Amino acid sequence: MSKWNDVYVMFLFIFMPVHVKLLNNSLARTPPMGWMSWGYYMCGANCEKNPEKCLNENLILTVADTFYQEGYQEAGYEYIIIDDCWSELERDSNGRLVPDRKRFPNGMKYIADYIHKRNLKFGMYTNIAKKTCMKYPGSRDHFDIDAKTFAEWDVDYLKVDGCFVEEDFLNTAYIQLGSALQKTGRQMVYSCSWPYYIQYIHNKIPDYQPVADHCNMWRNYHDVVASWKVIKSIIMHYQIEYKRLSPHHGPGHWNDPDMIVFGSGALNEGQSRVHLTVYLMLSAPILMSCDVNNITPYEKQLLQNLDLLAIGQDPLGVMAKPYQLELEVTLWVKPHLPMKGDKYHSFSFAIVNFDVRAHLISFFPSAYGANYTDGYSVMDVFANTFGKNVTLSDYIEVTVPPEDVILYSLFPL
Ligand SMILES: *[C@@H]1O[C@H](CO)[C@@H](O)[C@H](O)[C@H]1NC(C)=O
Ligand SMILES: *[C@@H]1O[C@H](CO)[C@@H](O)[C@H](O)[C@H]1NC(C)=O
Ligand SMILES: *[C@@H]1O[C@H](CO)[C@@H](O)[C@H](O)[C@H]1NC(C)=O
Repeated sequence: MSKWNDVYVMFLFIFMPVHVKLLNNSLARTPPMGWMSWGYYMCGANCEKNPEKCLNENLILTVADTFYQEGYQEAGYEYIIIDDCWSELERDSNGRLVPDRKRFPNGMKYIADYIHKRNLKFGMYTNIAKKTCMKYPGSRDHFDIDAKTFAEWDVDYLKVDGCFVEEDFLNTAYIQLGSALQKTGRQMVYSCSWPYYIQYIHNKIPDYQPVADHCNMWRNYHDVVASWKVIKSIIMHYQIEYKRLSPHHGPGHWNDPDMIVFGSGALNEGQSRVHLTVYLMLSAPILMSCDVNNITPYEKQLLQNLDLLAIGQDPLGVMAKPYQLELEVTLWVKPHLPMKGDKYHSFSFAIVNFDVRAHLISFFPSAYGANYTDGYSVMDVFANTFGKNVTLSDYIEVTVPPEDVILYSLFPL
């Protein structure tokens, strides 16, 4: 009897994990890049009153055209994502979601086809509750039919918000909706807001293991707003939570600090450099949210700086580690490719200054992991120049301007 119990226990032990179906799509091997409507257009449903912030078909097609014609697609921006407020207020008689008939007159498959023709990908939004955060129909009790609908519309990415539900429901429903998506056979990047709601609505510490097992990316912190103060608070959050977040971060599963708010006029050039650089150092998704016609030439140049983007799109996907050097100055350190042999990484060092005055900073790269005895070449990424090579006994000294960042990439010689 006891022998059979042992066998039974062994059986459970060996076969249990099969029942907990993990997310196993091959997507988001590097952090997704693209555009999402919410940060700038927000609900965008009242097009008569507020035509500048109208979330409709024309807007989405315009973003696709801009990405395709103005170099964004070639630089790696790929996903174009419609956030909340895209649907009619009622499901149809078959219980299916219906796109707003006025704003999306040709439906979502039409938009997907338009986007796919330009070698781009299409993202959509739902909420895990009965209603979305803005009170449109949500997916609770409709996981299978909604997953099927999104798959039929050729959606490539689904953002799933977490308003209006209990903590227990968040912990089970995100897994269930994820498997409903998998069952459709269509590969969709699965973007979850799950840990954000656990931490800031239900005031608990999220368990990131199941989140990373079942989602391609997930929100950790509050919504971004186009303001320097908010950008600083987001960056501080990732600095403070580095130890908790970094073990769950890597190819296929990413922490998501929310959108890039260029095109808003809220940030000066130095602040824009900080915003984008820290996101890239984190290996965060880069989803801009703006009127694409309002991106300044300088912002566009940053968004399409391939040496900069390469740091964020590095295949190893390591989240940079923060070191507080002075009260307002943090050094972020990120190992990445190319490697010399199989031991010696390249590294990027971003020295971020939140202070309103300049700081003279010096540091030894060898104190932060650089250990190749032949030394490194040193690229100043924003100046697009190579400085003096450094060896392990050399330090780098630089003045970091107020509210700005200096970024060096070091490559083993
Ligand atoms: C994931 O999917 C791939 C191909 O679809 C398969 O080869 C692999 O065994 C799967 N891995 C797991 C852990 O299920
Ligand atoms: C250099 O650092 C790497 C880790 O980045 C380590 O694997 C390697 O053994 C180190 N090499 C030496 C010579 O210390
Ligand atoms: C750095 O070292 C490489 C390899 O020795 C050399 O080719 C290059 O000229 C050096 N760069 C500078 C700026 O000294």
